[in-house]
Formats: sequence, C-alpha cells, structure tokens
Amino acid sequence: MSISKNFDFKVEEDVGIITIDVPDAPMNTWTEDGIKEFGELVGELEKRDDLKGVILISGKSNNFHAGANLNMLQAMKNRKDVLDGLDLFHSAFNKMESFKFPVIAAINGHCLGGGLELALACTARIAKESPTTIIGLPECLVGVFPGGGGTQRLPRLIGYNAVDLILRGKTLPAAKALEAGIIDRVVGADADILEEAKKFLDEIVSKKVELKRPTQDLSQIDDIAEMARQGVLKVTRGREIPGPMLAIKAIKDGVKVSFKEGIEIEKNCFADVVLSDQAKGGINTFFLKIMSDKPRSMMSKGFEPKPLRKAAVLGFGTMGRGIIVEMLRRMQVPVIVKDIPEALEPGKAALRKILDGMAQRKRLKVPVDDLMNLLIVTSEYIDDFKDVDIVVEAVFEDPKVKAEVYKELCEIVPEDCILASNTSSIPITQLAKDVKNPERFVGTHFFSPVWRMELLEIIRGEKTSQETVDNALNFAAAIRKRPIVCRDNPGFVVNAMLFPYFTTSLDLIGKGVPIEKVDKAMTSFGMPVGPIRLIDEVGIDVPYKAMKSMGVTPPEVLKNVVEAGRYGVKKSGKGFFLVDGSVDPEVLPLIPAKEKKDMTEEEIQDLLFTEMLKIAKELLDHKIVDDPRAVDIGMVWGTGFPPDKGGPLKWADLTGVSERLFGKKFYQD
Ligand code: NAI
Repeated sequence: MSISKNFDFKVEEDVGIITIDVPDAPMNTWTEDGIKEFGELVGELEKRDDLKGVILISGKSNNFHAGANLNMLQAMKNRKDVLDGLDLFHSAFNKMESFKFPVIAAINGHCLGGGLELALACTARIAKESPTTIIGLPECLVGVFPGGGGTQRLPRLIGYNAVDLILRGKTLPAAKALEAGIIDRVVGADADILEEAKKFLDEIVSKKVELKRPTQDLSQIDDIAEMARQGVLKVTRGREIPGPMLAIKAIKDGVKVSFKEGIEIEKNCFADVVLSDQAKGGINTFFLKIMSDKPRSMMSKGFEPKPLRKAAVLGFGTMGRGIIVEMLRRMQVPVIVKDIPEALEPGKAALRKILDGMAQRKRLKVPVDDLMNLLIVTSEYIDDFKDVDIVVEAVFEDPKVKAEVYKELCEIVPEDCILASNTSSIPITQLAKDVKNPERFVGTHFFSPVWRMELLEIIRGEKTSQETVDNALNFAAAIRKRPIVCRDNPGFVVNAMLFPYFTTSLDLIGKGVPIEKVDKAMTSFGMPVGPIRLIDEVGIDVPYKAMKSMGVTPPEVLKNVVEAGRYGVKKSGKGFFLVDGSVDPEVLPLIPAKEKKDMTEEEIQDLLFTEMLKIAKELLDHKIVDDPRAVDIGMVWGTGFPPDKGGPLKWADLTGVSERLFGKKFYQD
C-alpha cells in the first residue's frame, strides 16, 4: 500500500479498515493532498477481491470528517483547477462505489459537508450517538454548496427533503439523520463503533439485513425547486446569491438526468460558485465568526481572568435593562441595579417582560423567577456594592452625570472592580479622569436591543490596562457577545462607519435623489434596511445631535426634518416614513431640492460604500483597530452588513475597490 499522511489502511480478518486522521489538525478536512492520497488508496483497493468489505473510520475521537478545508476553497482562483480538483474527488468516490465489496462509513462525531459526501458514496452508514455527532451539508451557510456529489446523491437517497437540508445547511443529530434516511443504523454512545461497523458489515454481506434504498420519485422537482427558490429569495430579500441559487439549479437539473450527467452539472455549478466573490465573502464571514465566537481566545496568552461572581449596572433604562438580561441569563450571578427611585419599578416590570418573552420562546434555561431573584434593586450605594466584581454604567449620555456617578461609585466598590461604561459618544479617556484607578476603566459599547445584537465594542482608553481589556473580553465571553477591541475614537468603529453613510445618504436626498431610491439601492446591496429608514428607526434627532456635538454642520434636510419635530415614526409618530412603510408626503416639502436627481442604484451603492471605506482606512491608519477583521466583524454583527460579502473591507478587496481607492488591499493574505 502506498504511503499516506492522512489515511492508514490495515486488514483485520478479511475486513479492510481505512482510518482517516489528518495530522496536526483537530478535525479531519479535505486538503489537496488528502484527496490525492484517498484516490491512490481506493485505486489500490479497487483491484482487490480478497476482502469481505471495508470500513471507513476516523482516527479522531469525536470527529469523522468536517468536509472541505475552507482555506483551500478560498484560495481557488481558476476554473480549470476547480474542475480538476473535483475530478479527483469524483474519480475516487466512483472507484469506491465500484468495489466488489461493501464499504461502511463508521461515523463518530461531526460528519459534515465533504465528510458526509464521502459517507454518502459508501454502501452504508452507521453512526454513534453523541453530542458531537452532527450530520449534514452546511456548505450553503458559508456561501458555497455541496460540490462533492452531495446535490446528486442526497436527493436520490432521501428525496425532496434533501433540498431543504442542503439550502438551510441543516445539521442533524444521529437519531434524526436515521429518521431522514441518511444514516442506516445508530448505536449508543458507549458502543465500540468499529466493532458495531464490523457486525453491520457481516449482516450486509450475509444478507441478514436489507438496506432501505427506495427509488425516489423526483418528478415534481421543478415545483419543489421553485418553492425553494422563493424561500431563499425571501431570506435574502430578493438577492440572487450564487451559493443557494446554483445549488437549486444543480439539484433541479441534475436529478432529471443520469447520475453521471448530474455530477457534470454539479461540477459546473460548483465552479461558478466557488469562484464567485460572494463565496469568498461568505467563507470570510465564517472565519470572522470562528474568530469572534471565543472571546477568551482573544485574551493575552496565559491570562487568568478575574472571576465574575457579582455584577452591577448603573441605570435601569433601555440599555441597562438589556445588559441586565444578558448578565442574568448568561452569568446567573447576583446583579445590583441602581437608578432613581421612580425608575426602579418600571425597570423591573420591563425586565420581567423581556425575560417572560424569552421563556415563552424557550430561550431560558432557568425559570424567570429564579433570575429575578438574583436582582438587587436600589437607588442608593448600599453595602452590596462592596464586593462587586464588575460594574457597567448605562446612565444618561451626559459627561457631568457620568462624572458624578464615577466619583460616588469609586468610594464603595473594591479597588480592583472592573468599571465599564456603555457610553456611545463620550471618549473613554475623558471619562476615566473621574475614575479612581483608571487602568481598570474600559468602554463596553452594546447595541440595542442588547439581547439580540451579538456585537460588543470594547474600547481601550489611554489609561486602560491590557489586564482590563482581557477582563472585558472574559466578560464578553460570559455574556456570549462577539467582541471587537478598539481605541478611543468618535463613534468607536461601527458608528464611525455609519456616520458618513448616513450623512451622504441625507445629502443625496437633499439633492433630489428620491428617498425610496437611496434605500432601495442599499437593500439591493444587501443591507437589512436602507439608510434613511435606519435613521428613522434609530431616531432622526440622534445623528443630528451627534453632528452638532462634533461641530459638524448637519445636512439641510436633516436640520429641516428635526426642526419640524419629526424624530422618526417610532419615536415621535412622524419622520421620513408613515407607519405602513411608505414615504410620508409631509416630509417632501422639507427637502431642499425641488427637482429629482437621477442616479443609478450602482452609483448610489458605490458612493455610500466608498464613504464607509474611507473611514475604515482612517480607523486602520490611526490604529483605532489593529486588524481589518475587527471592522468587518463590527459591521456584520453590528449593522447586518451582508454576510455573503464577508464584511465591507473583505468585499472591497474582493471587488478591487480597495486597490482602486487606496492602492492596496485591506487584508494581507
Ligand atoms: P435611558 O434614558 O433609557 O436610561 C438611562 C437611565 O439612567 C435612566 O433610567 C435614568 O434614570 C438613569 N440615570 C440617570 N442618572 C443616573 C444616576 N446618576 N444614577 C443612576 N441612574 C441614573 O438611556 P439609554 O438609552 O439606556 O442609554 C444609556 C447609556 O447607553 C448612554 O450612555 C447611551 O449613550 C448609551 N447607549 C445607548 C444606546 C441606545 O441605543 N439607546 C446604544 C448604545 C449605548
């Protein structure tokens, strides 16, 4: 047998055992070498007729195979390489399918993407029940689709359900995969999967067991595919993203012809997808997610965080309530909240309402009463503050109020208590002046509604110590937020990026570009809502006040609308829009331009995107952030920037905009 780094082969009592074990990797994934080695191995086995069967098993304790290596996919640049790579894959799978003996995939742990496609090319599949045994084809979630035969083998095996599983990228535990017909047998968590696979093989060879392989009637595939397409377009708000669209095409066209022809269709669709900017963007978002999923991995190496056994929040308003919700449900520690006496009962009632809503949607592991019992409500600095580990301040956005609060607070909390401010616009360095031991003071900027928005900006003031930043990252992990760390800057990262986006949008409508057109251009770009609607929802007075306080002259249209008392349809009943979502005709006379200005969607998108990028460049040049990924994480999880674009900076790199504007890419890869 040929020497292989990724596969081991041995024979035990006429049964060949292939063990997949990619060296120095926590998970088995397909790399170029791995595919070639597998092809050579099955090429040698193809000639053998002395075996009863073969078992494919993983050398890792809780991972069968996690599919294609995404770095490999992201690096693919030309069509021929993609097609050649796929040919290697299919030639290996085809050889395996033509063995004179059965092949059993023995699945222990993750069996995903190209890993499941490998298992699907086996005669049968047996899986061990375990929390890590999840089975599915999640490729569409990262902007591609199953290109190793998945769009052809799965529908032929289980019927129309495959369409939903592939498009949603759903993963199933072993028992559900058995129910769906993907797996043939499930064994208990304590079972020896290899021994069970040998028994299963014996039963198949001796015909004691018959595998269920019903011929699937796929004659209605056109209707099913159209329904699936409409479903996808609903989620993408009408945008035709290559991954799911071409997955649908591959399934729809592929199941109508022979398997061999179907694979050719899949191959061509896959090449189109994998070379698309959206696939590369989607993969980047996946990497950003992995990077920010574990905030503790962003702490200094070897750092031992301060235990968070008790927390406090100052201010029981909109943000205070949201922050408390996260502390209670995620950390389950006592939380003190301080506000003026009149704010306490309304605060408690609002908090309970949020928690009740979560309980109804089964989002809480602990009864609401138990969580509410952890809350200590006060309007005084009571003794409970004496052993608090972290305080998050969310009082009025007024430097004087905040300064007073810090002075009093520092009298009572321990010297090493972490102090965090949720300010949205006051520099952390300025606020730190009123804090005793300012090295333990840090900005923690949450987004509203706090329990839904995953992003947390951690702001390092001039005096903030690295230890405090690390403790803030530990806090982010404890409340399960996705953090980015930045230095002091007006608007930090996300609001700094949104600022020119808003002002330029307002300038455009001031010059006569219809409101609907500006918004539509950006929703077509992939933003969840258009900029003018976003301003209306946030409160039209918010950017107005922010500009005034920064000494920036607000666009005339903004001034006119705010001065007319129109702060947004939710905030004051009147804004740019009516309740039904259409533009309020009353706002039109407040727009200075009397004639319509014609601009294409692309021109609007280019202009607004460029304005954001200019700020991003400054954020990096001035070292507000050290890594373009921080900006992209902020924009994807703080504003809903389209995940298939991989974040604004990745998108600028992929589409050549960064090189055109600044002569180089943001990412150095
Ligand atoms: P809010 O007005 O809803 O709540 C502020 C609360 O602070 C009120 O209940 C008030 O009674 C209380 N308060 C005032 N002075 C106090 C004091 N001396 N001691 C204790 N409590 C006091 O305001 P919101 O929206 O919750 O904002 C709070 C902070 O969060 C501000 O710094 C704001 O800039 C920031 N922020 C707000 C966001 C939002 O979307 N509303 C987003 C991110 C940050």
